[in-house]
Amino acid sequence: MRKRKLPDLDLQGFSWAFAKSLFEASGHKEGTLLSIISGSPARAREIKAQVKFIRANIKEGDRVLEIGTNCGHFSYLASLLGATSIVTIELREECAPAIEMLLAERAGITSIIGDSAHVVPQLRGPFDVAWVDGSHSMASALKDLRNCAGKSPLLLVDDYNNTSVREAVAAFIADSEYVLDSVSNSKRIIAKLINPEGQSTP
Ligand SMILES: C[S@@+](CC[C@H](N)C(=O)[O-])C[C@H]1O[C@@H](n2cnc3c(N)ncnc32)[C@H](O)[C@@H]1O
Repeated sequence: MRKRKLPDLDLQGFSWAFAKSLFEASGHKEGTLLSIISGSPARAREIKAQVKFIRANIKEGDRVLEIGTNCGHFSYLASLLGATSIVTIELREECAPAIEMLLAERAGITSIIGDSAHVVPQLRGPFDVAWVDGSHSMASALKDLRNCAGKSPLLLVDDYNNTSVREAVAAFIADSEYVLDSVSNSKRIIAKLINPEGQSTP
């Protein structure tokens, strides 16, 4: 069997053993930021490229919103990058064991189990960054983007290579003040949308 290659993320405090235990604890398996199931060198490069892009967009002290926690890989990363508060929303109860492990390890993370379509409009905000990574259907992704608009001037949209996510982003941009700033250099593309006005409302 080919030996798994775990990329060096050059991130103080990061543990692959902990990232793996989060993945194993979640009762709902889905592609996550750090899932290393294939363990191929290509997947290792992919993770490094995505982490590099995220790292360039999260600053010390940021308030972060995440849609789609799953096992908590993104929140774990955001916390290690210095985000001081993270609100993360997950639809499925089966993810709770992993999320509880994350909350026991890292301070400043608030987990909400619920449907982002209902939860996000009730959040006060503002946030500095929103990681939009819940349902990838066109309708749900568009709703998530519209609900995040105004709450955060910076939206990072995962899986922009997915046709329905791309359609949602196009529809969102067409009737909002946000523009597509850049995309990550990775197969699973992250799109960076910014509001040039830069204002978020509580
Ligand atoms: C791709 S995974 C998230 C991976 C995680 N963000 C990361 O970067 O490691 C997508 C997650 O979104 C959740 N999800 C789907 N629809 C949702 C909704 N309407 N509200 C909240 N979470 C949702 C799924 O249950 C799934 O766990």
